Order: sequence, then structure tokens, then C-alpha cells
Amino acid sequence: MKALVLVGGFGTRLRPITYAIPKQLIPVAGKPMLYHVLDMLPKEIEEVVFASGYKADVLDAYLRSHPLPWPTRCVPEAEPLGTGGGMKNASDGISDPFLLLNSDVIADVRAADVIAFHRRHGGLGTMSLFEVEDTRPYGVAALGEKDRIERFVEKPAPEDAPSHWINAGLQIWARKVIDRIPGGRAVSWENEIVPGLLAEGVYGFRMGGFWEDAGTPERLLRAQRLLFDAHRGGAGSLPRGARGTGPVAAGPGVGAKDATFGPYVHLGEGVVIEAGAHVENSILMDGVHVGLGASVTGAILGPNVRVRPASTIRGQVLGEGSEA
Ligand code: GDD
Ligand code: MG
Repeated sequence: MKALVLVGGFGTRLRPITYAIPKQLIPVAGKPMLYHVLDMLPKEIEEVVFASGYKADVLDAYLRSHPLPWPTRCVPEAEPLGTGGGMKNASDGISDPFLLLNSDVIADVRAADVIAFHRRHGGLGTMSLFEVEDTRPYGVAALGEKDRIERFVEKPAPEDAPSHWINAGLQIWARKVIDRIPGGRAVSWENEIVPGLLAEGVYGFRMGGFWEDAGTPERLLRAQRLLFDAHRGGAGSLPRGARGTGPVAAGPGVGAKDATFGPYVHLGEGVVIEAGAHVENSILMDGVHVGLGASVTGAILGPNVRVRPASTIRGQVLGEGSEA
């Protein structure tokens, strides 16, 4: 089986960092979000095809320098084609059935279990579902007998949501669904295509454990906490000479002597935290410098951001090279 991974979209909710890199390459708990997403895949996957768009060249270069355990291929689109258009554009040579993955979702699920479920139920497709309180940002499924999906509504108003089970972003589909996507224009898979497929047998795989769409700053930091709590953030020990509590995922060349930490921190390569500074619940990308006695909490700092001595950063997203 092959996997088609949707990696287009502008990542607008994670600007200004996404002006320079696609959101899938923002690191959480030790490695880019995308690499955590792909941890769901079994090693038997034949090929991983990336339907890319925005910053496709940056993604492609990163994949080449940080190879994955499967053969990979990027199929960029000249302009954003939406989730459905992106699928169609990248579908040459795709398997029957194929896995379809959103690239900003971290979850406590193994694709192998969803594949087994799909083989048991048959039908045109399987969507993995997760139960959430607030369904507004998601696609919502109503389940009938034997977990057959009877209705699917993308981002409904709360009063129109047919349940609390949302599309978790890991799906399996028969190859022929690609023919149902109109060509030559942007298409939303969830809005325009999925509802029309339900009559042919689409089933919902109910996931447990944890799940998060890491597409906004708050949810990205929550995803990081979930990954660390699930021991998917590496050893998590404090950098040498630092005090406080972990987990901290520190890249090579980090210096943080006499700095203090609260839990849930990612430090990219070459990050320097000066003495007396404090960092907690944050992501500091490569080359960030935090000055003496500064404090960084709930923040996402792009590459080479400089935090001035004694300054306080709370809940901000700062773009590459900025000073605060
Ligand atoms: N190739 C391509 N082209 N990919 C795209 C495009 C595009 O124009 N637009 C978005 N994508 C990719 C994103 O990178 C992401 O991996 C995936 O498609 C979904 O797009 P999002 O923008 O993150 O959508 P969402 O989070 O609002 O909603 C989707 O995900 C929810 C779960 O997180 C939908 O699939 C919902 O049904 C679902 O509940
Ligand atoms: Mg999303």
C-alpha cells in the first residue's frame, strides 16, 4: 500500500514562521511535525507521496537531507488545489486502496490497525475518527450500524454537528475515488466529495488515546505536550548545567548552563539560553538566542530569533531572525 500525504496549504495560522517554512517542518518534541505524523505508518508502506504546494522546494530539500524509511516522492501543485485537487494531482501510480494522511495531525494510532479495520469492513473507504468536545474546526461524522458513516459535514455550526466524532486525518480509500474529483480547479475533498461517497459504504474507525491537529500555535504546543507525555519526544533530559524540570528535547550544540526549565520544551540545533533565563512550554527553533535572565513561556520562536536580556515572551509566535 502507498500513502498520499497532503502537505499543501499556507499554514496561515502559524505565521510568521510559515512565511519561511511549511508548517509541517515546524519541530515539536525533537523533530518536525511531519516526522511525528509519519510515525503512524508501518514499515511495509511501499511509497510515500507528498501532495505539496506552498514551499514545496523547502520540504523537498528537507526530505532529501533527512531521509525517511520509505521511498518518497513530492508532487507539487503550481497553485493550491485544495485537499481534493491535491490528491488528484498526486495520484499517478497510487495503490488500490491507498492511505490518505493530513500532515498536521499527531495521534496515538497505528495505520496498520486502520488498514486491518478497512479490510474487515470492506467498502469504499475508512475514515479514522476521534471524539472531541468542540467540533467546529473539523469534519464531523454521524455513525450508524457497524460504524458505517451515514453523514459527513465539514466544519458545521455546533447546532448542525451530527456527533462529536471528527475526521482525524487518517483515511483509506479505493483508488477509484480519485475519478470523482473534478480536474483543473481547487476542490475540497471533505466538503465536495466525501458526502457523495457515503452511499457506497464508508466506515468510521474510532480512535482512542490522544489526538491533536497542530495547525494553530496553541494546538501545536498541546501536541508537543501530548507527544512528550507519550514518551515520543526522546529522552527529555535537561541540557547540561541547566536546572528545573523536563522534558526538554535538545538538539546538537545546545548551551543552557545555569538556565532553568519548566516542562515541555523543544530546543533546536545551536540554541543558546544564557544564565538565569527561563524557558517553559515552548518551541525554540535552530539558532535561537535567549539573553540573560529572560523568560520564554508558551512561545514558538522561529530560527535565529534573539530574545533580549531580561525580556519576557509569553504566548507569541516570532518569525525567523526577529528580535524581542
Ligand atoms: N496539496 C494540498 N493542497 N494540500 C493541502 C491544501 C492544498 O491546497 N490545503 C490544505 N492541505 C493539506 C494541509 O497541509 C493539511 O495536511 C491537510 O491538507 C488538511 O488541511 P488543513 O488546512 O489543516 O485543514 P483543517 O485542519 O482545517 O481540516 C482538515 O483536518 C481536520 C483534522 O485535523 C479536514 O480534513 C477536517 O475534516 C479534519 O477534521
Ligand atoms: Mg489541520
